[in-house]
Amino acid sequence: GRRADAYAQRFGGQLVLVTGAASGIGRATAFAFAEAGARVVAVDRDGEGAARTAELAGLIGAAEAWGEQTDVSDEAAMEKLAAKVAAEYGIVDVLVNNAGIGLSGSFFATTPEDWKKVLDVNLWGVIHGCRLFGAQMAGRGQGGHIVNTASAAAYQPSKALPAYATSKAAVLMLSECLRAELAGQGIGVTAVCPGFVNTDITATARFAGVDAAEEKRRQKRASRLYGLRNYPPEKVADAILHAVLTDRAVVPVTPEARGAHLMS
Ligand code: NAI
Repeated sequence: GRRADAYAQRFGGQLVLVTGAASGIGRATAFAFAEAGARVVAVDRDGEGAARTAELAGLIGAAEAWGEQTDVSDEAAMEKLAAKVAAEYGIVDVLVNNAGIGLSGSFFATTPEDWKKVLDVNLWGVIHGCRLFGAQMAGRGQGGHIVNTASAAAYQPSKALPAYATSKAAVLMLSECLRAELAGQGIGVTAVCPGFVNTDITATARFAGVDAAEEKRRQKRASRLYGLRNYPPEKVADAILHAVLTDRAVVPVTPEARGAHLMS
């Protein structure tokens, strides 16, 4: 296909680790790197899903592929994963911190437990990944790349997504700070900011304390304005590979994410 031609063997010999790889954007990203000849570690808290992604990645063209069951918000589990990957597969060349959960609801409908849950996965998961695998990359001294999946919500205030948007704004800033810190070591850092992408996360969105009808109308307006709907995760994966090859800092992906980024 087109992508295989575009990126054929561009990642040959490289080790790529993707979190949240059992589904959606993470799975598509694991497949895209597999097509480009990488060795792929598919990580997810859903171990069976991660194993399935790894198996398919092997069929698609990955030089080698492994599935690992890990909860990215669990610091001890992430330490174990980082030690295992380094010992058994090698130093990661490209790290994609993509695992994330959705949470919608007005500020006052969002409980402290909700805040903790979404920050634990969406922010702390990225922090653990960057600290552990970033340190290995820097220690090796041969460069590398880190991609963090933020969101257009990071720069688009919304009364429907205060906790989620805050977690993603933090991921965006963390990525830019780390990019500055690692620039001298040949390690690039990219924040990828998709708008609405057709995955499980959007199908299971919860609208506590928000007028669900109003939220639907808002999404409809946005989809008419930007002609979105059914934006496939494969196109986000393409944007991620391109961002690594061209070393971009912030990459808004869908049409409405690009529009909102220009206005932010
Ligand atoms: P998804 O729900 O299809 O995939 C997320 C994956 O992450 C799942 O396989 C899930 O099991 C895994 N996961 C969740 N919590 C985890 C944890 N604690 N440890 C390990 N794995 C965990 O969702 P999607 O859309 O593919 O999301 C991927 C990333 O893209 C997320 O960070 C999300 O916030 C972000 N994003 C998604 C957008 C969309 O419209 N779908 C828009 C902007 C950003």
